[in-house]
Amino acid sequence: MRKVSTDTPVEALPPIEEVFNPHSKEYCENPIPQCMELKKRGRLVWYSPWQAWIMTQITDIMECWRTEYLSSDFYDWEFAPARPPEAQWTNFERAMIGHSLVADKDHHRLIRKVSSPAFSRNVVDAIQKRIEPDVVKLFDDLGEPETFDYMEKISNHIPFISITRMVGIPEKYWDDFKPVVTTFTEAWNATISEERRAKAREDSNRAIDIIKQVIAERRESPQQDDFLSALIQVEKENPDFQEWDIITLILALIGAGADTTLVAQQWSVYALLKHKDQAVEALESPESFAKAFTEIMRWAQNSKMGFARYAQDDMDVLGQQVRKGQMVLMMPHLKDYDSQYFDEPETFNIHRKFDPDVLFGYGPRFCIGAALARRQLYLTMSELFKRFPDAELAFEPEKDETDHNSVAFKELVIKTNIKKA
Ligand code: HEM
Repeated sequence: MRKVSTDTPVEALPPIEEVFNPHSKEYCENPIPQCMELKKRGRLVWYSPWQAWIMTQITDIMECWRTEYLSSDFYDWEFAPARPPEAQWTNFERAMIGHSLVADKDHHRLIRKVSSPAFSRNVVDAIQKRIEPDVVKLFDDLGEPETFDYMEKISNHIPFISITRMVGIPEKYWDDFKPVVTTFTEAWNATISEERRAKAREDSNRAIDIIKQVIAERRESPQQDDFLSALIQVEKENPDFQEWDIITLILALIGAGADTTLVAQQWSVYALLKHKDQAVEALESPESFAKAFTEIMRWAQNSKMGFARYAQDDMDVLGQQVRKGQMVLMMPHLKDYDSQYFDEPETFNIHRKFDPDVLFGYGPRFCIGAALARRQLYLTMSELFKRFPDAELAFEPEKDETDHNSVAFKELVIKTNIKKA
């Protein structure tokens, strides 16, 4: 990785608030100029609309990921709801405070260690087998239309299918469980209203009741080949791993695995249809797709917010005085169109080398679901191109400015170009 020069005279530049707004139409249309403006402002930039600091340089972000000198605990944020006494905890608070994957570093390490067998290659293979029929069914139900909206018919269903199949939530609970999969990450999003965050916390409270019910049923019924059964086994073997750890982990999978894959689905289709000359090679095998996927997400430059951390004390961070409770947003995507990191960054090239590849994070909090995410995307893209090898975008899709976290699309209408006899 190449070194970035940060010696632009910042004082000479207009205030960042005038040139950077991820919720603007301009950002949705083309985030790159705004991201490059932000990067020029220094290593840690105060952004008043979000009352947050933004960490802009990948080397600083990797150091923060690796050493965890900032907290990942949402309740350390100055604007988080007060941490209530234990006797008054709701389900959401018990999961997010009491057994949080994010709060206590030692507990986090323990959970990652004991639950790692549940994310092994064999389990991912088994989960893929369980998701595959659902993906095939979505395409079967679609039939052979001349055009269709990929989001409505396919991609909007995938995160929910993957997570419920992965965890093992029975279909009878799907209607009640669905809202939380779509709103969970809003529970701690700094850039939306407290009302919307409160509604997301309510959805989570209901979802936790369902998860508890499913765990109780699973304890009664014989072992099944899913993640929940694997975690119940881990619980039996590890006294420090309890039912609330299972619940928290499942919420973490929903929180981290739903929105991310929804957007990744959209951009994978868009990027491969825009570069059909590279699609066949990208989809040659799960391994070739895994490499191409990092390039898809680099080229997409779709992130709006980055990853949140919080200062637990008043502290000096990269030469700035950060107050206790302030949020620091790490934005690794700012490097993606920097020609000091990537030659010809505008060019989509599945052979591009990423060293290191930080799409899924780095260090102790590296993404748990990376293998599953890549596999699930490979499965869906392969099915699409197998059924519709001549597919193309019917027209250039409009962006959805309301998405709180990413540059997403409103619809992705595909022309199948199938030759009917
Ligand atoms: C395209 C898809 C995905 C991308 C790009 C992605 C990326 C990431 C990144 C960058 C992190 C680190 C976040 C931070 O440092 O704050 C992370 C963490 C995490 N991801 Fe993913 N992710 C994806 C899909 C998934 C899926 C499908 C799941 C689960 C089914 C998942 C589960 C998690 C969990 C549980 C964490 C937190 C790990 C911890 O704190 O120890 N992710 N992901």
